[in-house]
Amino acid sequence: MATSYKLLFLPGDGIGPEVTAEVEKVARALSADGVIGFEIEHADIGGAGYDAHRDPYPDETAYRVKEADAVMLGAVGGPKWVDVPFDKRPEQGLLDIRKDMNLYANLRPAFVFDQLIGASSLKEHIIKGLDVMIVRELIGGVYFGQPRGIEDLGNGKKRGYNTATYSTDEVTRVAEVAFNIARARGKTLCSIDKANVLESMIVWRETVTSVGKKYPDVALSHMYVDNAAMQLATKPAQFDVMLCPNLAGDILSDLAAAMTGSLGMLPSASLGDKQPNGLPYALYEPVHGSAPDIAGQGKANPLAAILSFEMLLRYSLGAHATADALRTAVADVLDSFRTPDIMEDGKIKVDTATMGDQVVARMRKQLAKVA
Ligand code: NAD
Ligand code: IPM
Ligand code: MN
Repeated sequence: MATSYKLLFLPGDGIGPEVTAEVEKVARALSADGVIGFEIEHADIGGAGYDAHRDPYPDETAYRVKEADAVMLGAVGGPKWVDVPFDKRPEQGLLDIRKDMNLYANLRPAFVFDQLIGASSLKEHIIKGLDVMIVRELIGGVYFGQPRGIEDLGNGKKRGYNTATYSTDEVTRVAEVAFNIARARGKTLCSIDKANVLESMIVWRETVTSVGKKYPDVALSHMYVDNAAMQLATKPAQFDVMLCPNLAGDILSDLAAAMTGSLGMLPSASLGDKQPNGLPYALYEPVHGSAPDIAGQGKANPLAAILSFEMLLRYSLGAHATADALRTAVADVLDSFRTPDIMEDGKIKVDTATMGDQVVARMRKQLAKVA
């Protein structure tokens, strides 16, 4: 093995450590078998960061993130931290790491494994067409706009406010990512906005249109976000790549996830510019949260996290053959084994760790076949 990659795990809270433990098994198996070398490290984020350092994105974590070749995150948040000051909440740690690493493009691919068509919330003929790449702008929009705050109006009354902003530069860089992805897929890009109501979205639409002129081979359309939610749930096959502002992408991706069978199935990659070593600044995490309702019970589906690691293999390491083997392993496992969220008649119900073990065993078989 020529190179060894520094892989930093940020397990976080709730089911975060449970699902990243399964990813770690996959990475350790690849290292042990001499397929890809990983030096594995761990650091705190979210509620775990707050508990250990009174900071949801501790300085030490920020330092180690920059030393790492790729970063794999579990999930953050939970009822334990609801009374923590707002700027120290676990979720703030996630927003901080995204901003700190300048991860402006969040890729959330929603597709349905054939094995899971019956587990979807939709009818088979509708769900069969779902294969969409949601490209979510991740460090702008109403999530980060200034001014923001809560003002005291007296008499126990308050006014909370946020600012939705988008600039030409912020939209251009994420639009270019989306157009390039569309070019490599079905050459169709639907840009989502609310340009009928919000000025920030007028800039969004104008900028996407102007970037689109450089991509004449990609068919560009625009859709208001409310209609997009309806269209996604009724005619998902029309979408190839959806380019979304931050808040719209957050909401539409949970909807798309549920359609794939479970929120526990949807992976993501958050990408920024290149590091000095040529690899992209990148953070991989499942789309789901810390799922406090099932944490600590071995019920969490680790596949969204494992499929996020598949994205890491592709987008950070360019290890497509290994990524293909992992994807095939996941599909094979779904033939027989299910966590409770995707359980169907005739399948064997297993816990989080067994699901991970099964994926590792099948990935090894798959890799032995291609070797
Ligand atoms: P959630 O995504 O944690 O859970 C929503 C529902 O989906 C729950 O019923 C949960 O049990 C189920 N679910 C989620 N992931 C699953 C998995 N892998 N396997 C099986 N079932 C799964 O959303 P929530 O309940 O609204 O939020 C809980 C906490 O997580 C909050 O603190 C929230 O802020 C945080 N959160 C974090 C992230 C993140 O870290 N990226 C994302 C979303 C929410
Ligand atoms: C997500 C989450 C986060 C977001 C929260 C936890 C900050 O919901 O990654 O989808 O809103 O971006
Ligand atoms: Mn979300």
